[in-house]
Amino acid sequence: MMDALHTVLRQPRRSLGFFPTPVVELRSLSRFLGGPRILMKRDDQTGLAFGGNKVRKLEFLMADALAAGADAVVTGGAAQSNHCRQTAAAAVVCGMECHLALGGSPPASMNGNLLLDTLLGATIHWSGEYRKGETIPQICEDLRQKGKQPYIIPYGGSNRIGAAGFVEAVRETALQIGPEISEISHLVFASSSGGTHAGLLVGKSLYGMNFQVAGICIDKGESGEKSLSQHILDLAKGNAKVHGIPAEFSADDIILFDEYVGLGYGVIGELEREAICLTARHEGILLDPVYTGRAMGGMIDLIRRKELKRSDSVLFWHTGGSPALFASADALHT
Ligand SMILES: Cc1ncc(COP(=O)(O)O)c(C=O)c1O
Repeated sequence: MMDALHTVLRQPRRSLGFFPTPVVELRSLSRFLGGPRILMKRDDQTGLAFGGNKVRKLEFLMADALAAGADAVVTGGAAQSNHCRQTAAAAVVCGMECHLALGGSPPASMNGNLLLDTLLGATIHWSGEYRKGETIPQICEDLRQKGKQPYIIPYGGSNRIGAAGFVEAVRETALQIGPEISEISHLVFASSSGGTHAGLLVGKSLYGMNFQVAGICIDKGESGEKSLSQHILDLAKGNAKVHGIPAEFSADDIILFDEYVGLGYGVIGELEREAICLTARHEGILLDPVYTGRAMGGMIDLIRRKELKRSDSVLFWHTGGSPALFASADALHT
């Protein structure tokens, strides 16, 4: 297995973050829950503008944008999108304009990620009911009319190029932990636009890992939309193909827990509140209200239901998002 770790993706990469991110053990939380050994991969510490998982994807996406001769990047998301904030910072580092299609309309006051987007100099295009980058093509058309060369970064940075960041993340983690990686039974993380999940699956296959890749679904799918499982499967197959990785994936490989979405994307409930407080008060680690709070809440429930057993060894992937805490004070204040 360690030999396989010499295989590196040939995709060009622009350094943007601090890697490897730390791996820490959550002893107090594990003891409190009477559960499995819990390790945490601290991708909230990737370093670029408060960090997060998108920095991994952006290292590959921005390299592609630079190679294409782009002078602007265009992406989209919710008003409090972590992906958009990290893209805005990556654009600054690469000397490009950043245009963000954000769901909703201008709020009375700027806070959380939205405040950071503006500090980073991004141009915001308010997109009303559209929060998944649906208006990106129109923004690009307008930029082209003005003589710009825009590069599209899809919603969540989740395409075959972005997913490469998480193929590489498996390699990074295996080298970091060493042979002990074979003791890890599950990776648990927030899954939303699918690139993190797909990259981890391809990385698992490429580097011969045994763990289960178990995503906690964050968002209710919209009717008419491709299911998240199918999207992840397509991304994993596409990514493996681009990199010439002889891996076969089927629907059975996609483990996605979709029972924790509550009242929908970004609606904070008791599940998220409890998970954020337990992790803060046992470990001194801050999760975020939309993604990692929900994913940790799901993992705690899986432990309580004994789906994750004492004999298991879980790596929880902290994918970042903490700036959104400051935009959620009313829902979180205890
Ligand atoms: C903090 C955080 N965690 C997890 C995710 C989900 O990652 P993915 O979109 O690759 O599924 C996101 C996506 O925006 C995020 O911001």
